[in-house]
Amino acid sequence: MVKMKFTGSGRMGVLLLGATFLVFIYKIIIRPPNHSTVLNFQQWIPNIKYTDSMSSNSPRNISCDDHQSRDKLYLEFNFAHHGRLGNRMFHYASLRGIGASLKHIPLWKRTDPIFQLFEINYNKSVSPFRLDNRVFRNTTNMGIYTESIVDMKNSSTNISIYGYVQSWKYFHNIEDEIRKEFTLQKDKADRVEAIFKGLNVTSRIKVGIHVRRGDFLHFLGLTVAPKSYFDKAIEIFKKILVNPVFIVCTDDLKWVEMNLLTRDVLIVHESVFIDFGVLMSCDHSIVSSGSFGWWTGFLTKGTTIYFRGYPGPEKMYKFHLDDYYPPHWIGLY
Ligand SMILES: *[C@@H]1O[C@H](CO)[C@@H](O)[C@H](O)[C@H]1NC(C)=O
Ligand SMILES: *[C@@H]1O[C@H](CO)[C@@H](O)[C@H](O)[C@H]1NC(C)=O
Ligand SMILES: *[C@@H]1O[C@H](CO)[C@@H](O)[C@H](O)[C@H]1NC(C)=O
Ligand SMILES: *[C@@H]1O[C@H](CO)[C@@H](O)[C@H](O)[C@H]1NC(C)=O
Ligand SMILES: *[C@@H]1O[C@H](CO)[C@@H](O)[C@H](O)[C@H]1NC(C)=O
Ligand SMILES: *[C@@H]1O[C@H](CO)[C@@H](O)[C@H](O)[C@H]1NC(C)=O
Repeated sequence: MVKMKFTGSGRMGVLLLGATFLVFIYKIIIRPPNHSTVLNFQQWIPNIKYTDSMSSNSPRNISCDDHQSRDKLYLEFNFAHHGRLGNRMFHYASLRGIGASLKHIPLWKRTDPIFQLFEINYNKSVSPFRLDNRVFRNTTNMGIYTESIVDMKNSSTNISIYGYVQSWKYFHNIEDEIRKEFTLQKDKADRVEAIFKGLNVTSRIKVGIHVRRGDFLHFLGLTVAPKSYFDKAIEIFKKILVNPVFIVCTDDLKWVEMNLLTRDVLIVHESVFIDFGVLMSCDHSIVSSGSFGWWTGFLTKGTTIYFRGYPGPEKMYKFHLDDYYPPHWIGLY
């Protein structure tokens, strides 16, 4: 279903120099305060446990081209709670980046859903596999870059990574490659194009907005972005872009319809894959919380604004915004 609401001409925005300056000002004013830490974020995420299905107790086969390569070193991700699309993208990208740093061959399951959306052409990713003589390298927390994961010391063993690897820093070294791999498969790209055409926005500047609420609302302590955040972000883009159109994908249609609709805001609500494709195909991004939105922000080529209030009051969470969000993104409350 594609919902079209209030298409039409937006007003002409004020252009370029002053605009860039405005964004600059926002960036300066809204500096991150220091993070104090009380809670461990992982305590708030359910279903994290070590899993048998990935342990070395059950014999598994390694990829055909690497079979029995005793002299090679491998890297696997060993974490039961793989999560949904955005989390999987983080884990895949990070494993690739860490593998490139450590000169280990990353292994990834071919059956992963990311292979159904993107043009990933990574052929070491066969499953099942068996990894002998591995050591664990554990991450400390969600949203924190754990430097010891990519430590070159003592890296002459197979390595099994356990925990969330959700930081752009893990795959900064191969960012271009990751962007290329996360290209939409043709049928999804065609569908996205058809949606833009149907909305008559093909030639307009598009700002994708991801409004994540749903389960986060029920998650004790996780903050969802308020209406005022989206209004502010939309205003900024209206000032710096010429006649932009805003395209919203969300897990809470009702809230968006009640709070965000104006003449320049459209909703697309089709499927996880297509919604993702629509947002990543926009020119700029406004993201709220969660890794789904994070990745749409990462894959759009323009400016990304994120909600600084996630995951919650900074005093309550161990969560490093600098590790989680790339430095050129703009944080707003
Ligand atoms: C591993 O590969 C061998 C030979 O190709 C096959 O016979 C065996 O069933 C495979 N084991 C698993 C667990 O896939
Ligand atoms: C994997 O990809 C590399 C380079 O893309 C290629 O040389 C190699 O033959 C491929 N291996 C398999 C088993 O497909
Ligand atoms: C790493 O694991 C592979 C596959 O199980 C194994 O063949 C290889 O000997 C291991 N490497 C080391 C250094 O133990
Ligand atoms: C890392 O996590 C694994 C899986 O939970 C655990 O077995 C191992 O003891 C941990 N290692 C360290 C050093 O914390
Ligand atoms: C490397 O491993 C040895 C034991 O295997 C340990 O004593 C040493 O502290 C480790 N070095 C580093 C830098 O982790
Ligand atoms: C499509 O949008 C263009 C401006 O981008 C406008 O001129 C045209 O009238 C629109 N067509 C329809 C059918 O709304």
